[in-house]
Amino acid sequence: MESRLAVWASGSGSNLERIVAACRNKEIPAAVVLVISDRAWILVLERAAKLLLPSQVVSRKNYESEDAHAQALLELLKKHQIDLICLAGYLAKVPDKVVRAYQGRIINIHPALLPKFGGKGFYGKNVHEAVLAVKEKESGATVHYVDEEYDHGSIILQKKVPVLPADTPETLAQRVHQVEYEIYPQAIKLVLEKLARR
Ligand code: GRF
Repeated sequence: MESRLAVWASGSGSNLERIVAACRNKEIPAAVVLVISDRAWILVLERAAKLLLPSQVVSRKNYESEDAHAQALLELLKKHQIDLICLAGYLAKVPDKVVRAYQGRIINIHPALLPKFGGKGFYGKNVHEAVLAVKEKESGATVHYVDEEYDHGSIILQKKVPVLPADTPETLAQRVHQVEYEIYPQAIKLVLEKLARR
């Protein structure tokens, strides 16, 4: 049976597009049935609409407490019968209550070789600038489980790319993005297989 995925994103959504393609061409026995964003008017919501996916903006600022925010997310996940949550450029913190309720069923992709260059503040261009600043010879992408700390849960898959002498944060980001498109669908498949054995 197809698993039901929710992709959470705050940015452009190119990983969302890749995950949807992997589902639709049967690389993964799943379907993306919901897109959640923490902010309105962003590219990922346009992509979701083009892909004919339901999307919902759920911002912490629209709720009076962290608990009310978490409750709204949990209700949405329940309503759509979500099996696995895939964070793809989601910049807000997943409320602890949601992390606990979906233990082992929330994964994230990070544009570096964790545990290096991870944690609060390491997102987007900042990550690649930090990698270049210390003259790393390689970088890459990591898919990992989500726990209560940023970029901290156990690693599912990782793939390296070289850092070239002429790299800028933009060229390095592009190279890392390419391996993200390879490993995110592979990692989703692995996690779904593991969940099926539970
Ligand atoms: C990716 O680089 C991912 O590793 C990070 O956020 C970025 C999202 O890119 N967590 P996109 O919105 O999928 O293009």
